[in-house]
Amino acid sequence: MQINNSSIVIKGIGSYMPKKILTNKDLSGIVDTSDEWIRTRTGIQQRHICEEGEYTSDLAAKAAKNAIEDARLKPDDIDLLIVATITPDMPFPSTACLVQTKLGLGQIAAFDVEAACSGFLYALDMASAMLETGRYKNAIIIGAEKLSSIIDWKDRTTCVLFGDGAGAAVLSRTKESNTGILDCCLHADGAKPELLRMPGGGSQIPASASSVEQRQHFLKMNGREIFKFAVRGMERAAQEVLDRQNVKIADVDKIIPHQANMRIIETIQDRLEIPKSKFYNNLQYYGNTSAASIPIALDEAYRKGLVKHNDLLLLLAFGAGLTWGSTLLRWHKP
Ligand code: ACO
Repeated sequence: MQINNSSIVIKGIGSYMPKKILTNKDLSGIVDTSDEWIRTRTGIQQRHICEEGEYTSDLAAKAAKNAIEDARLKPDDIDLLIVATITPDMPFPSTACLVQTKLGLGQIAAFDVEAACSGFLYALDMASAMLETGRYKNAIIIGAEKLSSIIDWKDRTTCVLFGDGAGAAVLSRTKESNTGILDCCLHADGAKPELLRMPGGGSQIPASASSVEQRQHFLKMNGREIFKFAVRGMERAAQEVLDRQNVKIADVDKIIPHQANMRIIETIQDRLEIPKSKFYNNLQYYGNTSAASIPIALDEAYRKGLVKHNDLLLLLAFGAGLTWGSTLLRWHKP
């Protein structure tokens, strides 16, 4: 929604993936699984994994640097920094503060957002609203994850699904109206946290010898329930912004859904009756990178020339919380 005949646009986009690749075949040497099982159930072929000594803030800073360069801005032009992550370098200080120093930014506002795989869309809506106040000029928002640090490498039902990576976008104000971020919807339902969570490490189960022994510091998931929720959540979120903006799904040029599982995306394609060609997917190469998945996919689609100036884009997300949401935007990079 726009005010004062101006818009908030994505002025720059960038991503960064750690160099090390873990294939399905590599995983079959770690747990009892197979390339065939992973491909047919998820569509994933490989994922990128951090090296020893490489952290979420490193991936975030590299993705942000690429986005700032793409926006043709200097680090000094940025006055707001938000990092969406469930794998911060440490509980505090925020990863955003660590990234601020790594990027050599000034003493600008910097904080983390935690909404799991929906985190990037939460950060996008928050940054847009803050820019609309006029108190900030250029925001960098980053989705960054080192999920390999919270994966139970003995649990074949989860360790095959996730990867590490980061994506970032520079948001700025433009005088043109009816372009850039057109609408966002965000939702959460905290009634069933047990469906997807990392139980240990917080105030409820602080780290102890017993919490480590019980493997409480790893991600736990009820895959079947999450699958059903993911389809429902992304379908509803798509419909909500389209209805509110009086836009037909046929008018959308590209849809970038959270990259968790190809079967979830195919189910949404069928239910919303959208041609597959409208979707951009890259989970084959990266697995589920949580808050990083949407900006990584958006960056890649843009660089491949699949997203062009004035295209209407729909971003769809769901994640732990449970959280879900969507963003409708007109791509503005003349
Ligand atoms: N390799 C081989 N066999 C496996 C593996 C594996 N990696 N994992 C599970 N299996 C076995 C199970 O043990 C089970 O065997 P059984 O029938 O002998 O008991 C069988 O395969 C089927 O298991 P299901 O769990 O029923 O498999 P399903 O078809 O539901 O697929 C999956 C599992 C891929 C996890 C699916 O449920 C899914 O994608 N769910 C959504 C997950 C998701 O998107 N999570 C991200 C959330 S976003 C965020 O915020 C992090």
